[in-house]
Amino acid sequence: MSYQKSSLLRFFPDGIIKQAAERFGTPLFLYSRELLEKQADSYIKAFAGTDTLFCYAMKANSTRGLCAVIAAKGFGADVVSGGELFRALRAGFPAEKIIFSGVGKTEDEIRYALRENILFINAESFEELRLIENVARSMGKKVRFSIRLNPDVDPHTHAYISTGKSGSKFGVSFDEAFEMYRYAAASGNFVPAGVHSHIGSQISSGGPYKTAEIRVAEFIDRLSSLGINPEYTDMGGGWGAAEGFEMKSPSELREAAEPFLRRGKKLILEPGRSIAAPCGILISRVLYRKRSGSRNYIITDGGMNDFLRPSLYGAEHPVYIPGKATGENYVGKTENMLCDIAGPVCESADFLARNVMLPPVEQGELAVLLSAGAYGISMSSNYNSRPRAAEVMIENGELKLLRRRETVQDIISAEVC
Ligand SMILES: Cc1ncc(COP(=O)(O)O)c(C=O)c1O
Repeated sequence: MSYQKSSLLRFFPDGIIKQAAERFGTPLFLYSRELLEKQADSYIKAFAGTDTLFCYAMKANSTRGLCAVIAAKGFGADVVSGGELFRALRAGFPAEKIIFSGVGKTEDEIRYALRENILFINAESFEELRLIENVARSMGKKVRFSIRLNPDVDPHTHAYISTGKSGSKFGVSFDEAFEMYRYAAASGNFVPAGVHSHIGSQISSGGPYKTAEIRVAEFIDRLSSLGINPEYTDMGGGWGAAEGFEMKSPSELREAAEPFLRRGKKLILEPGRSIAAPCGILISRVLYRKRSGSRNYIITDGGMNDFLRPSLYGAEHPVYIPGKATGENYVGKTENMLCDIAGPVCESADFLARNVMLPPVEQGELAVLLSAGAYGISMSSNYNSRPRAAEVMIENGELKLLRRRETVQDIISAEVC
């Protein structure tokens, strides 16, 4: 993919990028608070006048300093593990605005969620519902729950982030969900708080949501024939943001929510990527250049352990070389070269970008990957015993360290012999 003109660069001036790299080292995640708030505000604006709770999907980026900005906007959180629940509470999301999804919750995690009195637990199988019931009974509590429906809709996205098709491990069919609500109604340990679906990620149009929500609304009518009327309809997350750009207003999601709004339901949305991705960049430093066969490699100190999306999903994030042709398209300049940007990890799958057209790049220069604020640090690892990158936020033109760079000591700290 060629370098594209990006609307994001105005939030990341060259001077700030260079200063951050000098001060905190590379690889480095740099976030813009201004842009983060802007993305959160787009949701608030698109759903103005409705009774909607936004539960930020912690998995996109769970760093406290970033989450705290989103919590301050009045958002709740969507968590998928006990660890995320802990971090959500620590970042300032109120328990009564937290929901807990995920196909594999353990007994301890369910107990933790009940102890914290979160808004509701989202069950994803009959066996899980029974475990939730047992835990609630042992604690002498009633549990607020929802069931994740699988509406069998193709979200037209990468197979690894498509979750709402029949055959996926997520959610249950409408018929099974119906039986689960009926079971819960008979049990006496449950309060039906919501109906949930999440059809996938990086979805770029309202069409798949509309199809899913019409089916979910029919299911809600079926449930009300049993006298079960959950307060919330949760449409999940998944709204996309094209790499290199701010997110498109989620107004199409509001249109898709009409069947629920007409029925007087409270809405929940669980945006992750669309809020966090545009507001972050990954800054790496060029270590070496080399040629192999017909390919030009730029080897950087940032790699797949820092940013897995290109290797895992084939994601294409625009690359920017600070100080060179700011915001311009490099294509067409004769000195440009077709390059791969590869990291230092010992895997051929370790690349940040492939087939990118770049101006001549020198050793020691910076290479910036755009739209790296979501599923970046949260999917990062210590593979090859590489400490995780630091995270810094631009706030009113100043640099604020959110998370220091890990050390090798951090990596070995849990080894007991
Ligand atoms: C249940 C649930 N909600 C919300 C999200 C967030 O999706 P996105 O980051 O694409 O908005 C996910 C992502 O996997 C999810 O599984």
